[in-house]
Amino acid sequence: MKNTAHTTIIVLNGPNLNMLGVREPEIYGHQTLSDIENLCKDKASQLDLSLDFRQSNHEGELVTWIQQAYGQVLGIVINAAAYTHTSVAIHDALKLHQAVPVVEVHLSDPKTREPFRHHSYIAPLAAAIYAGLGAQGYVKALEFIDKNRKRP
Ligand code: DQA
Repeated sequence: MKNTAHTTIIVLNGPNLNMLGVREPEIYGHQTLSDIENLCKDKASQLDLSLDFRQSNHEGELVTWIQQAYGQVLGIVINAAAYTHTSVAIHDALKLHQAVPVVEVHLSDPKTREPFRHHSYIAPLAAAIYAGLGAQGYVKALEFIDKNRKRP
């Protein structure tokens, strides 16, 4: 049986990212979340990896998905969106994943925006952070996890 822990990257997207394309395009661009998913799928297949790409508007659902991914993935890419700046629960769940890289992604650069976006509860657990690069940040996150994978 194929061991998904060596081949799967989970990409988690938080609240309002399902509205990309129509949501503040001057900040987030015109790409939809499906466009970003397709970009990630292309990169994952180039790297010979499987991709599990998800979005939720619910903090608890994201926490459950992070828990369920324990021991099942090569790494986690997370754009927790607004929960980045508020969620101790997501921080605690990510702490489970000390054995694999967690990569924080943002389309915009929160550090150059309103002060309430400057703090991240994800950052202390992140092996890398890509912010302000638009959808390319996701691609870079996948490349980072691939480069750092421990080959069996
Ligand atoms: C975001 C930045 C967050 O501050 C914001 O709440 C988002 C999107 C980004 O991708 O730039 O929803 O994570």
